[in-house]
Amino acid sequence: MSAPALSPTRIAVLPGDGVGPEVTAEAVACLETVAQEFFHDFDFTCHAIGGAALDVEGVPLPDATLDACLASRAVLLGAVGSPKHDALPAHLRPESGLLALRKGLGVFANLRPVRVEEGLLDASPLKPSIVRGTDLLIVRELAGGLYFGEPRGLDASRGFNTLAYTDTEVERVARMAFELARDRRRKVTSVDKANVLESSQLWRAVVERVAKDFPDVALDHQYVDSCAMALVMRPASFDVLLTENLFGDILSDEAAVLPGSLGLLPSASLGGSVDLFEPVHGSAPDIAGRGIANPVGAILSAALLLRHTLRLDTEARLLEEATRSVLAEGYGTPDLREARLPVGTTDLGSRIRRRFSELAWSGASRGLVALTE
Ligand code: NAD
Ligand code: IPM
Ligand code: MN
Repeated sequence: MSAPALSPTRIAVLPGDGVGPEVTAEAVACLETVAQEFFHDFDFTCHAIGGAALDVEGVPLPDATLDACLASRAVLLGAVGSPKHDALPAHLRPESGLLALRKGLGVFANLRPVRVEEGLLDASPLKPSIVRGTDLLIVRELAGGLYFGEPRGLDASRGFNTLAYTDTEVERVARMAFELARDRRRKVTSVDKANVLESSQLWRAVVERVAKDFPDVALDHQYVDSCAMALVMRPASFDVLLTENLFGDILSDEAAVLPGSLGLLPSASLGGSVDLFEPVHGSAPDIAGRGIANPVGAILSAALLLRHTLRLDTEARLLEEATRSVLAEGYGTPDLREARLPVGTTDLGSRIRRRFSELAWSGASRGLVALTE
């Protein structure tokens, strides 16, 4: 009897709006190169979300899209949101499709790594002496807080939202942050507003409790306002930065200043039934359709998919290394103000893919040499 054929790894691709399709195409092409060089079998299926779904289906997250995501190993998303749909009520806006997707997948921990490479110090608008050595990981709670709290409402004279957390919601994301810190520099900074907010007082108490199970990891607490300042004053002092949903949203865009562009930052959303990967940036309507969007955040999100969902650490590292080395040579989209060699989205993507193949082949030949020695 012949062995059953291995089924391909199904990856749901949701390009979305604005620059979403442009950057996602580059990330998918990178995964195709990875599959080719390492003999993997990835099967990509494309589905509508956001404004693109509203235009054809009348809803920002069609059932068919969520079902396809739930039937996949991982989801790779571009971005949602478009000025055309800005006037819709909140529950019909493209953004609500993304929130419903995160909820539907059950992901609750959003990892947003931020690194400043030694060879790319010039890309930052901040002084090299400030950003040198920056290597931090924002762990943003993704399924609770102000985004989802009830009651919420809007009428002609009042709009309101509720910031609430349960101990269970805080504990699960805190545990993940401490686990992740163990593979890094073993330091967690928990960011809250416990001097004012009850939800933050609970947050702090639960994080303290979880920390007792991780005696090898150092914990400190910072208020979100002073953390916002510390992030650009002494970014290299942070390792894992654990925070609630809205604070994490804001701090991660701020952190994009460190490497020099929002277009560089990737993210991984974990903890649910299917993992979700998306760049931190939005649909960037101001530059959409011009072929100049930075694909690096999307490509590095694909690298996180390789690492976190597929456990393909070598492939993930090589894709990150390929990206780093092409950027270090001076190639970059126009958002990287100091790029010596300005290129467009597809050019940058294909340079990264070529470099990946070169690295994979030189690694393979080194491996062969080692085997024959
Ligand atoms: P944005 O992140 O889309 O853009 C902010 C700035 O960064 C713009 O100047 C843009 O040109 C630039 N930028 C973003 N991504 C870039 C890239 N890949 N390459 C080069 N430059 C890039 O934020 P915004 O303008 O506040 O929002 C636009 C729309 O995107 C809104 O509808 C918003 O709700 C939505 N949004 C979606 C997501 C998401 O899908 N995850 C995230 C943030 C915002
Ligand atoms: C992000 C975005 C989303 C968020 C929006 C579009 C719902 O800003 O992924 O950072 O606030 O989470
Ligand atoms: Mn955001």
